Amino acid sequence: MLILWKKLNYQTQQGSSSARKRCVSARTFRIQKSGKNLFQRCTKNFQKYMLTSQIYKLAINKGIEADLRGVKGVEKFLQRKKEKYEKLSEKEKEDFDLETLTNPYSDSQILNIADDKEIKRVLVGIDIEPAEILIAKEIGNIDLIISHHPSGKALANLHEVMELQSEVLSQYGVPINIAEGLMKEKISEVSRGVNKLNHQQTVDAARILGFNLMCLHTVCDNLAASFLKEKIEKENFESVGDLVSFLKKIPEYKEAMKIGAGPKIFTGNPENHCGRIAITEITGGTEGSPKLYEKMALSGIGTVVGMHVSEEHKKEAELANINVVIAGHMSSDSLGVNLFLDELEKQGIEIIPCSGLIRISR
Ligand SMILES: [Fe+2]
Repeated sequence: MLILWKKLNYQTQQGSSSARKRCVSARTFRIQKSGKNLFQRCTKNFQKYMLTSQIYKLAINKGIEADLRGVKGVEKFLQRKKEKYEKLSEKEKEDFDLETLTNPYSDSQILNIADDKEIKRVLVGIDIEPAEILIAKEIGNIDLIISHHPSGKALANLHEVMELQSEVLSQYGVPINIAEGLMKEKISEVSRGVNKLNHQQTVDAARILGFNLMCLHTVCDNLAASFLKEKIEKENFESVGDLVSFLKKIPEYKEAMKIGAGPKIFTGNPENHCGRIAITEITGGTEGSPKLYEKMALSGIGTVVGMHVSEEHKKEAELANINVVIAGHMSSDSLGVNLFLDELEKQGIEIIPCSGLIRISR
């Protein structure tokens, strides 16, 4: 199913020039042989830019490809979801969001389609709030607004994506029963925390002002996590200081340093040995359980690279003698978003960054 999806996306995206050629020959064909059906089919296929739904599907596929659980792990997750759905009563099925059977990221969704048109120009920000929707109106000719952080139902269901963290932790040696047990507690806490928020505020602003809106959270965080994991694992860092120096060379972090938001050591010191470096806090919704640090240390993790850390988490990491390197929040979010935006740029889509997005093209 996933592979089929991917093929469809690429066929539609890459088919624009061949579709044009087919249409030219179809026009000739129509005149000569009255090939009406073929011409109609070609006219329908004549699409230069992607639609919102195609951008969304591309994003989900990219998120799956980069998922630290691996494509097989994601398929298993979706299979479990499908089995749960099939066990529901007909009444319960009515309330079930069928999108969750193919999109494993509850915090990445299309939030409003005002006009299902081809997308040529996109406003992209880390946080899109009504102010950014007004900015889009002021700029003009914005076909789609993409937020990194979730709004609407993607915010209300943010906790559902956190299951990912248990499996990633188990890859680093934390027993899955411990990771799952501690994460379950945290997931339920996050679920209650997001419940009280004004989920629809930004979505309503987009609806009133007529903007297409989507949010891509874990999808982009997956891209950042796999990028960092691959880069870091290629190196053999001795000290925490070496790791931080390496991070500072990545363009998004280099830019962030100029505004005082570059990579920093939150626990430990530059002379500490790194030990095993874990990329467990870049993706998976939001912070996991602070009780995990002790288990991580006992499982052989020496250093954690994260985007941000709360005081409670910092204290627990210190007690467990785990070094915590905070790469930076907006900069790490930007890294993941940029890796996806590069895919849109390849399709000829213009990107206008806003709201904390440090745009770097690769
Ligand atoms: Fe974030």
